[in-house]
Amino acid sequence: MKIGLAADHGGFDLKNQIAQWLQEAGFGITDLGAHAYEAQDDYPDLVHPLAEAVATGEVDRGIAVCGSGVGAAIVANKTKGVRAALITETYSARQGVEHDDMNLLCLGGRVIGPELARELVFAFAKAQYSGEERHDRRLQKLQQIENANNG
Ligand code: RB5
Repeated sequence: MKIGLAADHGGFDLKNQIAQWLQEAGFGITDLGAHAYEAQDDYPDLVHPLAEAVATGEVDRGIAVCGSGVGAAIVANKTKGVRAALITETYSARQGVEHDDMNLLCLGGRVIGPELARELVFAFAKAQYSGEERHDRRLQKLQQIENANNG
């Protein structure tokens, strides 16, 4: 599985740490930046390309980190086909994939510690969508809403 990563200055250090963890665990990664710490960078500029990479299938899933994770989630969900959420505990990191086919995990680099972040990343990366009829039905309803909103 290939996982795309993106972060602004608020998530820069954690994003680099996540890249290392994932690589050590054998996951393929695509780091979409920031590639250097830039105190004035803006999360939409970093997270939108990641959302596009998830939507086009260039990467299988994405992890976006900003200071709180809120901005990352807001911008990621603007892209059709992306199902992003700000996650702070392991149940949702796993269940969000199993039930909702969450394909982009958002984390707050300023609000969670490294050990919790590591658990969230691996709970997300290792989880699989259930494929159950009730979950498919809900995803189809989401798709209908998305299509109605995006023409
Ligand atoms: C950047 O200072 C900060 O506002 C941003 O990373 C994020 O927390 C937005 O949601």
